[in-house]
Amino acid sequence: MIICRNSSEARAQVAQWKREGLTVGFVPTMGFLHAGHVSLMGLAAREADKVVVSIFVNPTQFGPNEDYASYPRDEEGDASKCRSAGVDLLFLPPVADIYPEGAETFVECTNLPEHLCGLRRPGHFRGVTTVVAKLFCLLAPDVAVFGSKDYQQLKVLEKMTRDLLMPIRIVPGPTVREEGGLAMSSRNKYLSPEQRHQALAISRALGEARRAVEAGENHAATLLAAMARTIETAGGRVDYVNIFHPETLEDLDVLDVLDGPAHAAVAAFFGPARLIDNLRLRE
Ligand code: PAF
Repeated sequence: MIICRNSSEARAQVAQWKREGLTVGFVPTMGFLHAGHVSLMGLAAREADKVVVSIFVNPTQFGPNEDYASYPRDEEGDASKCRSAGVDLLFLPPVADIYPEGAETFVECTNLPEHLCGLRRPGHFRGVTTVVAKLFCLLAPDVAVFGSKDYQQLKVLEKMTRDLLMPIRIVPGPTVREEGGLAMSSRNKYLSPEQRHQALAISRALGEARRAVEAGENHAATLLAAMARTIETAGGRVDYVNIFHPETLEDLDVLDVLDGPAHAAVAAFFGPARLIDNLRLRE
């Protein structure tokens, strides 16, 4: 596995592979890799000849009171996971390569971020689209893989790629779960064993909502209240529970009934960790 800390070298290596007629699959990450990331690497390997993983804790997607400084980092452990997963190039750019001094250009999707996490984390998706656009410009992969746990991020990045006419195919990877159903996340590290157990309520709430819909429940208010109750009863603090259209992300009003495609998402705090998860309720 090539480890590259320099943007020009990473760009040159990927360009070389492409000249040789090889396709390149890309998995952008912020590191502290877990089995969810490893499954995205496996997916990239199935979709392309060479796999590139980037690790970059992107300052512009963190709010002033968020965990940028304390975001978990483990470069050695990450490199060994990438190596075992058969990654060809691990790209570890310094901040100054991605945000050269004086940089003042941002990439912003205007509509999809006006929902869900975008409302609670102003500027977050602008940071995500900016860094991913920069990485796409640098590496020009054929395919990029993003996890479905960050459902809104996936939709925003699909939209950005399409709107900016980038010739990159976005492939969603399924959410990988720990035993009991907790969606894998680097932020699960912040949970004590007790909080980790309590946080199982997130996936339980989503699963119960889907089963209720399958059994005929179609009132958004009932489903939303039940999800919030499940999380609060377990000791969590709900940031939001939402039911929305899976493509536009427009939320259903509490008075609405589900009569079309519907997706549910939850953000909740367990101890210091803000965790998110989502599930399709109705096709
Ligand atoms: O999902 C993440 O880890 C990040 O938001 C991403 C896509 C790597 C951009 O920094």
